[in-house]
Amino acid sequence: MTNINDFANKCILTGVKPTGKPHIGNYFGAIKPAVEMGHQAARFNLFIADYHAINFMKDPELLQTEIRDIACIYLAAGLDPKKDYFYRQSDIPEINEITTILYAFTPKGFMNKSHAYKAAVDKNLADNKPNDDGINMGLYTYPTLMAADILSMDTDIVPVGKDQIQHVEIARDIAGAVNAYYDKEILKLPSYITAENVAVLPGIDGRKMSKSYNNVIPIFEEDKIIKKAVYSTVTDSKPIEEPKNPDDVIVYQIYKCLARPEQVAEMADGLKQGKLGYGHIKAMLLDTILEHTKDAKEVYNYYMNHYNEVKGFLEDGASKARPYAQRTLQRLKETLFGNL
Ligand code: ADP
Ligand code: TRP
Repeated sequence: MTNINDFANKCILTGVKPTGKPHIGNYFGAIKPAVEMGHQAARFNLFIADYHAINFMKDPELLQTEIRDIACIYLAAGLDPKKDYFYRQSDIPEINEITTILYAFTPKGFMNKSHAYKAAVDKNLADNKPNDDGINMGLYTYPTLMAADILSMDTDIVPVGKDQIQHVEIARDIAGAVNAYYDKEILKLPSYITAENVAVLPGIDGRKMSKSYNNVIPIFEEDKIIKKAVYSTVTDSKPIEEPKNPDDVIVYQIYKCLARPEQVAEMADGLKQGKLGYGHIKAMLLDTILEHTKDAKEVYNYYMNHYNEVKGFLEDGASKARPYAQRTLQRLKETLFGNL
């Protein structure tokens, strides 16, 4: 939807739910590309969507652990807390006031059609449960809160995975409805961008790597834990000398997404010629993962051990970002209620 060259004067914004430990697929497929894209923009807002998280997770200790972890992961991925706007959603209460205003412009049908809600209903039906079993209003209405996250900050572009496109379109439609009603540009219309050239990493069983499939290679864990996951990657029982088609080898499929082209070619040739066995290629994959994450892991460990600094970054980020939400709310209230 957006041309990659138009970032220079734009605000890129993205939110991340602190629910579930990210894996190398999330890190190389979403976290790092979003930070790199954000750094091409005039302003990069990255926030921790803690109000979204409570729809799914209500244990405060667990939530704190997840928030801490995700904040340190983004810093490890290169987020610049001085330049970027790095904050917690709950530190900007105006977002919730804006949400209430946006409800008045949100057709209920949008919520019925939202992917997140429909996926929850489909799961209930598959489990022979009533449609709305266990679904709270936070989940049902979450595209409106997400719209407020985006619109409050005068966002131009939202980098998204395919599942989130619809939610950005809803934000755009709601903003369009507000502007059309009052016949002036009160809210900026956001666009989305999907990172087309970012690979989808397969998991250790060959399906897409996903928290929900239990097939992940974790990131920033101890080397032995990462090794255990890498060495559990599914293989057949062909001996070393039997030529193998690299496209049938899951270890190679994962390696291809991470290693340099000459390393990938070396593994492919070794497999085709029966010179590399599964033990060899698992060691090569492990080395590559450890090499690609070494520097970032140091940053991650540093911040995990100095979380007070991270808290300071988040507070500073909220004080930089909050005036945008305050101005948006002001514009909305003046328009809706007049100057009485
Ligand atoms: P998961 O499937 O592990 O639950 P999410 O659905 O929470 O992951 O996705 C979070 C982000 O990570 C999304 O932007 C998604 O596109 C990206 N992502 C998830 N899995 C992968 C993968 N295997 N390879 C590349 N990117 C991924
Ligand atoms: N809904 C997003 C997710 O599930 C997280 C999110 C919340 C978000 N608010 C946002 C993403 C605003 C982009 C912009 O991953």
